[in-house]
Amino acid sequence: MKGIIFSGMRPTGKLHLGNYFGALSNWIRLQDEYKCYYGVVDWHALTTGYDCTEMMKENTIEMVIDWLSAGIDPNKSTLLIQSYIPELAELHLLLSMITPLSWLERNPVVKEQVRDLDLKENMGYGLLGYPVLMAADILIYKTNTVPVGEDQAPHIELAREIGRRFNHLYQDVFTIPEIKLSPTPKILGTDGRKMSKSLNNYISLSDQPEVIRTKIMSMITDPEKIKLSDPGHPEICTVFDYHKKFNISEVSDIERRCSNAQLGCVACKERLSEILIEFFQGFRERREGYEKNKDMVWDILKSGSQEAREVAKITLHEVKKAMKIDYAR
Ligand code: TRP
Repeated sequence: MKGIIFSGMRPTGKLHLGNYFGALSNWIRLQDEYKCYYGVVDWHALTTGYDCTEMMKENTIEMVIDWLSAGIDPNKSTLLIQSYIPELAELHLLLSMITPLSWLERNPVVKEQVRDLDLKENMGYGLLGYPVLMAADILIYKTNTVPVGEDQAPHIELAREIGRRFNHLYQDVFTIPEIKLSPTPKILGTDGRKMSKSLNNYISLSDQPEVIRTKIMSMITDPEKIKLSDPGHPEICTVFDYHKKFNISEVSDIERRCSNAQLGCVACKERLSEILIEFFQGFRERREGYEKNKDMVWDILKSGSQEAREVAKITLHEVKKAMKIDYAR
């Protein structure tokens, strides 16, 4: 039997290269090896974004169009929207009963969010329960593998503890999932910092060729290489980093010519622009197709959610039976 995967993304709209290399490219790769459930986790988005919901719908469809255009195949994987699966809310509630508050309060990820978003007194009950909801997402499909980035590891550890605690208190219902850390190192933003929407240093998968070119041409390179005849230090250059990711066949040549002062930064960036534009050509074409057909994309999400719900219902029933609260069934 194939292993079962669940992973989720908050609906943030169009995805950038950081999202692609950090998560999406792995999701695509895993589709043949596992039975995969991939979720738009809109309730998780509400834990911090409850006051700005007007973009949720748009952000959901744009993100899922990126998934599909990049190679997530709805015939292989089950694509779902978290809030279309009410059984998750019920499981979340039941799990919240057995989760010690101290486990949630010591969670470093939540602590960081409270600090970064300056939430303090405004921290919602829902945000504290973020990992319990994640545990519900994962456990309800009897997931045994969860591919995520390093930043999510403490949450997955909690999901494992919650699952174990349930199995110990009642009966062995849940599979205890293994974490599968994303293997690809992060791609930096165009300014050399971590790529993120808020830093405005990102390249979207859907950027048009001229936008890609403008963003690449504005990238900062080795500050000691001013003219072509200055020898460069590719190891500290973000543009070179991109060549390593997208232009494997030319990378050793570029490294040599940059260090030997035979290749200037403008030509080097121009070449990178060409490569990137080419790399996402097929993606942009597929994306145009889905954009014209958003109803079809919503249908994919509806039927995926329906399929996931069937599994969720069975697990929830087992949960209630184990807890002896399935009275009249
Ligand atoms: N918290 C994850 C993130 O922000 C998204 C997520 C929600 C998730 N539920 C999940 C990831 C379950 C893996 C498994 O990236």
